[in-house]
Amino acid sequence: MDRELALEFARVTEAAALAAARWLGTGKKNEADNAATTAMRAVFDTIHISGTVVIGEGEMDEAPMLYIGEQLGRGGDPVDVAVDPLEGTNIVAKGLWNAMAVIAVSPKGTMLHAPDMYMEKIAVGPAARGKIDLEAPVEDNLKAVAKATGKDIGDVVAVLLDRPRHQEMIERIRKAGARIQLIADGDVAGALHTAFPETGVDILFGSGGAPEGVLAAAALRCLGGELQGRLLPEDEAQTQRCLAMGLSHPGKVLRMDDLLRGDDAIFAATGVTNGELLRGVRFIGGEQATTHTLVMRASSGTVRFVDTRHSLNRKPNLIMV
Ligand code: FBP
Repeated sequence: MDRELALEFARVTEAAALAAARWLGTGKKNEADNAATTAMRAVFDTIHISGTVVIGEGEMDEAPMLYIGEQLGRGGDPVDVAVDPLEGTNIVAKGLWNAMAVIAVSPKGTMLHAPDMYMEKIAVGPAARGKIDLEAPVEDNLKAVAKATGKDIGDVVAVLLDRPRHQEMIERIRKAGARIQLIADGDVAGALHTAFPETGVDILFGSGGAPEGVLAAAALRCLGGELQGRLLPEDEAQTQRCLAMGLSHPGKVLRMDDLLRGDDAIFAATGVTNGELLRGVRFIGGEQATTHTLVMRASSGTVRFVDTRHSLNRKPNLIMV
C-alpha cells in the first residue's frame, strides 16, 4: 500500500477521537460510540481506497455503520479494513484511561474476515515473539516470557481484562508468582503495551472482542510482537456465521498469518482519553483541540507518534478534503 495512506488513516482515527471525546464522562457510551463511528465513516470516504470492512462494528443488521462487508473510500486499491471507532466506550463514558479510536488496513484478502464475537487471546512484544503458545498452560507461557525477556518470573506483568471469566487464570498467574495488571476495558491497548517496555506490561491473556484481536495483531505485526487468538462462538448461530465467512475450523488457533497475512499493513490509533502510550484529546480553547496518534507501517516497521493541533472552526464536520 502507498505509504502516504498512513497520514490519511491517522486523519480517520483523529476525527473519530475528536468526536468521541466530546462525550467524556457523560455516562453515555452509545452516544460516544455513534459520534466516533459517524466521524470515522465520513473521513474514510475522502480517501482513495476501495475498502471493505472485514471485521468491525457487527453485522449489517446490528450496526448502522462500519458493519462487516461495508464498502469504504472513494475508489482506489482494494483493501481490507478492521475498525473499532471507539475502543473503550465505557472508558469514555466514565472518563477513565486508554480509550482509543483504532483502525488497521491491509491489501484485500489478507485480513481475518470474521463475525464480531469473543476471541481468546495471548499477546507479547518482540522479545517473546515465537515463544508463546495459546494452547500451553498459562504457567508455561509466563516462564517462556520470563526467559525471553531475561526477567525473574516475579518481575513479569500480565495484563487481563477484569472479568469473572478470567478468575481462574488470574489465580494461576498469581500462584506462578507473576504480577497482574487488571484493566476495566480496552484490550487493544493491553496488547499494544506488551511491545512498549516503558508500560511495564509483558503479556496479555484472556478473551475479548475478535475485532480487537485483529487490530491488536496488526499493531503487533508492525511492532514485531505476536498475538495468537481463537474465536469463541457462543452458539450454533455464531458457528454458522463463521462457516459462512469462510472459516472452516472456527475453533482453530489463529496465528499471525491467519489474522493478518504479510507485511503490508498500516495501523493507526488516536487517544480519546489519556493512556500509558497516547494522550487523550484536549480541547484547548479558541476552537482548537489536540490529538495524539500512533501510526505504524508493518513493511517498514516505522512507529510514528503524531501530535496534531486541529482548528475546529475550519473543519466543523471534522472533514476537509
Ligand atoms: P467496547 O469499546 O466495544 O465497549 O469494547 C471494550 C472492550 O473492553 C474491548 O477492549 C474488549 O475486547 C471487550 O470490550 C471485552 O468485552 P466484554 O466487556 O464483554 O468482556
